[in-house]
This record gives sequence, structure tokens and C-alpha cells, in this order.
Amino acid sequence: MESLRVENLKKYYGKTKAVDGVSFSLNDGEVVGLLGPNGAGKTTTLKCIAGLLRQTEGSITIKGMDHRDDIARSKLSYVPEVLDIYEGLTVWDHMKFIALAYELSDWETKAYSLLERFDLTEKRSELGLNLSKGMRQKVMICCGLMHDPDVLLFDEPLVGLDPRAVRELKDVFVTLKNAGKSLLISTHMLDTAQNFCDRVLVMKAGKLIAEGSVDDLRSKMRASQDSTLEDLFLEITSDEGK
Ligand SMILES: Nc1ncnc2c1ncn2[C@@H]1O[C@H](COP(=O)(O)OP(=O)(O)OP(=O)(O)O)[C@@H](O)[C@H]1O
Ligand SMILES: [Mg+2]
Repeated sequence: MESLRVENLKKYYGKTKAVDGVSFSLNDGEVVGLLGPNGAGKTTTLKCIAGLLRQTEGSITIKGMDHRDDIARSKLSYVPEVLDIYEGLTVWDHMKFIALAYELSDWETKAYSLLERFDLTEKRSELGLNLSKGMRQKVMICCGLMHDPDVLLFDEPLVGLDPRAVRELKDVFVTLKNAGKSLLISTHMLDTAQNFCDRVLVMKAGKLIAEGSVDDLRSKMRASQDSTLEDLFLEITSDEGK
């Protein structure tokens, strides 16, 4: 079933067309990579879906409901690239904050196991201020997983994580996928994306310029069977022939 639908999404900043008429959808249990050169409009797209930016035009639905609807919002999670950690709150406070915001009951066990999973147990009482960049990122990931969302948006989630955390996060992606959740993940790490994405969306200058599985892209580009996602991406986003 379809869990996320974006239709003719446009977000303009004055004359800058950050997102310029993008349409796509995600099904339950799908992991989709959102790719594109710097400034392509990936973060803007994710923030519009998350309801943090108001789109200039277009509609966004989560499980058939407008994305600003309260129920739709409770099914959505967004892990940002710029880490909005509260410097004056401890790691545990962050988990408690999410539990309160989403009115979760019996959240402590889940919070504890998430922190354990991401090596943060010992930092439970540490203030946000005193956490390293990767730790902050891990806290944001744990927060994003607390309320059992159906649609998860991640902006550059793998940058800055240590190898163990990268492995944990990839395992989390697989678990979520197997539980029927939909994941939209913006990333520049194409070799990793090739491994964990069912499908990719390629944006450039606010437009969606390619979409499909790595196999789909190979046949559309008439590329050889051994061409990697990186090869295909560089070809798709090159300015030659335009
Ligand atoms: N607050 C803003 N005001 C004006 N222009 C903005 C703003 N935020 C983004 N833009 C512009 O919108 C375009 C898309 O930016 P966006 O951050 O969505 O790109 P991105 O694909 O996430 O890039 P990156 O790979 O560098 O993260 C860029 O041209 C950027 O300069
Ligand atoms: Mg970005």
C-alpha cells in the first residue's frame, strides 16, 4: 500500500526554485534513496514533507491523509541533517520529551534499548552541550524511532557516525523495512545507498530527473550490468548533452 505521496511539490525562495514540480510516492516496506548534487533540493523536499517548511504548491499525503493532519504527523518521523539537540537537556530528557510529545506510555524500555543499541547508555545523563557530533546524531536517530512511525525521513544519516553506529543504523533500516515501514533517505554515499535502497530518486536543480532501481537505471541509460550507482549517478547528473 502507498504510504507517502508527493504531488507536484514546489518550494520557491524568491526567485530560487529549490523544488520545482516534484512527484513521487513510497509504498509500505520500501527503502528509497533521495540523491542529487549539492543544492538539488533534497533537504527542502524532506522539510516540506515533514511540515517544517510550507510548500509553495503541491500536495503531500501520508497514508492518504494530508501531512499536516495530526494523525498523519504522528505516523511520520524526520531525522534532520542539522542537529537540533537541546544543549540544556540530557540524553534521557530528549527521550522523555518525545514520549510526552507523542503521549507514549511504557516508553522507558524502548528508550533504554535504543540508547543501548547506539552505545549511548553511559551518556544517558549527559547534557546535549557535552555530546560529540556523532553522539548528537545518534540521539536524534533514537528520538526519531521512539514513536514507531510508519514513514521515516532521514537527511544524510550516515555522515559523521562511527563504523559501529553505521552498522547499527543499517540494521535498523532493514528491521524497519521488514516491519513494513517506508524510508526516504537522502545521501551522497552512493555505494552504501546501492546496498540498502530498493529504489532511488535523483534530483537536480529542483527537478526529479531519474527514478528507479539500479537495474532500471542501467537499462534506461543503456549502461552495462556492472555499472555502479555512482557511475549511473554521475552520468545522469552530468550537464553534457543538455
Ligand atoms: N532558507 C533558504 N533561503 C533561500 N534559499 C534556500 C534556503 N534553503 C535552501 N535554499 C536553496 O534551495 C536550493 C536547494 O537547497 P537544499 O538544501 O534543499 O539542497 P540539498 O539537495 O539538500 O543540498 P545538499 O546536498 O548540499 O544538502 C539551493 O539552491 C539553496 O540555496
Ligand atoms: Mg541537504
